[in-house]
Order: sequence, then C-alpha cells, then structure tokens
Amino acid sequence: MMALRRRFAALFHDRTLGEDRLVEGEPYTLEHVPGVLALERICFPAPWSLELLRQEAVARDHAWNLVAFVDEDLAAYLFNWIVLDEMHLLNFAVAPALQGRGLGGFLLDWMLAEAARNGYHSLSLEVRESNAAARGLYASRGFDIVYRRRGYYTDNGEDALVMARSLDPAGGP
Ligand SMILES: CC(C)(COP(=O)(O)OP(=O)(O)OC[C@H]1O[C@@H](n2cnc3c(N)ncnc32)[C@H](O)[C@@H]1OP(=O)(O)O)[C@@H](O)C(=O)NCCC(=O)NCCS
Repeated sequence: MMALRRRFAALFHDRTLGEDRLVEGEPYTLEHVPGVLALERICFPAPWSLELLRQEAVARDHAWNLVAFVDEDLAAYLFNWIVLDEMHLLNFAVAPALQGRGLGGFLLDWMLAEAARNGYHSLSLEVRESNAAARGLYASRGFDIVYRRRGYYTDNGEDALVMARSLDPAGGP
C-alpha cells in the first residue's frame, strides 16, 4: 500500500499548447483541502462538502488520494478507496482551464499503471449517464459499463453507470 503514496513527476502532452508539460503529483493532505474544494464546486453539480474533503485528507489504509500540480497550480485530483485488491475511483476532476488537453487521460493512465504494478486487480467507478467527456475517457481506457444504479444522484435523480476494468498485473495500462 505505502508504495502508492509517493510523489511523482512526469511529462504529459498538452494538446492545446502542442508541448510536453511537467505534472507533479503528491498525496492529498489537509493543506490541499481549500484548493480541492474550490475545484470541486466548479467541476460538479453536487460537490463534496468541506467536511467530506477534510475526512478524505486523513491518511488511511483504504484510501489512495492524489493531487496533481501543473506550474505549481492545483490541476487535478483523484480519490480512490481500496477493498482488498480492488480499487474504486470516488472522485476525479481536472481544473476547467486544463480540461480537454490530455491531462485527465494521462493521470488516469498513470494511476492505472501504478495500481497494476502494486498488485491491484480492478478499478471501478460511477459516472453520470449525461457526462459524455468522462464516459468517453473511461471507454477509451477500456472500462465497460457493468450496471446502472437508478436515481443514484440525489441532486437531479440521474442514473449512475458503474464502469469497471481489470488491471494488467504486468503493469501495463
Ligand atoms: C472528465 C475529466 C476528468 C477528463 O479530464 P480531461 O483532462 O478533460 O480529459 P482529456 O483531455 O485527457 O481527455 C481524455 C479522453 O476523454 C475523452 N473526452 C474528453 N472530452 C470529451 C468529450 N467532450 N466528449 C467525449 N469524449 C471526451 C476523449 O476520449 C479523450 O481521449 P484521448 O485521451 O484518447 O484523446 C475532466 O473533463 C473533468 O474534470 N470533468 C469535470 C469533472 C468530472 O466529470 N469528473 C469525472 C467524474 S466521473
């Protein structure tokens, strides 16, 4: 587990600028809560509360939560819960100014490879049926729809699609 909680630095290709840029990742902690809360409120119709974001910032064995910075600005976050060798992506967003440039795909690929290298066997998640960008991203990364949770989202009664994929233990995405 601990191997997952590491800092990383990598280059992603920014499709808008047409150049590689540095992205730096680190474990999510209390110092990141205000920045994540601000993005959460812009990115989601039913954002997580401050209290929930604080709870997730406490390191626990069943959580793998990451934040990523580009040019020292908070650019993205990914929160996972872990049950035995299965991972569940609870929360994932890229800052609006950086969306559609390749960062979300890069971070998901990085996370899938890191999880596989550390022996995890599957990743599941819920996505709003109407969220075309996220569904496109997950489908392009080999996630299948495994079932529908009817009326899952309490703000508008929308269904969630549960998507999942297995992870290659050899470490490939
Ligand atoms: C969903 C999200 C994380 C994707 O991150 P991103 O940086 O914008 O995504 P990328 O630019 O890396 O695109 C990745 C893939 O998504 C797909 N995609 C992106 N925008 C799309 C759109 N509008 N319609 C369909 N597919 C789209 C493409 O298949 C793309 O694949 P490629 O990398 O092979 O070209 C980001 O848009 C976001 O934060 N949205 C708001 C919050 C949210 O919905 N989070 C997910 C909750 S389940």
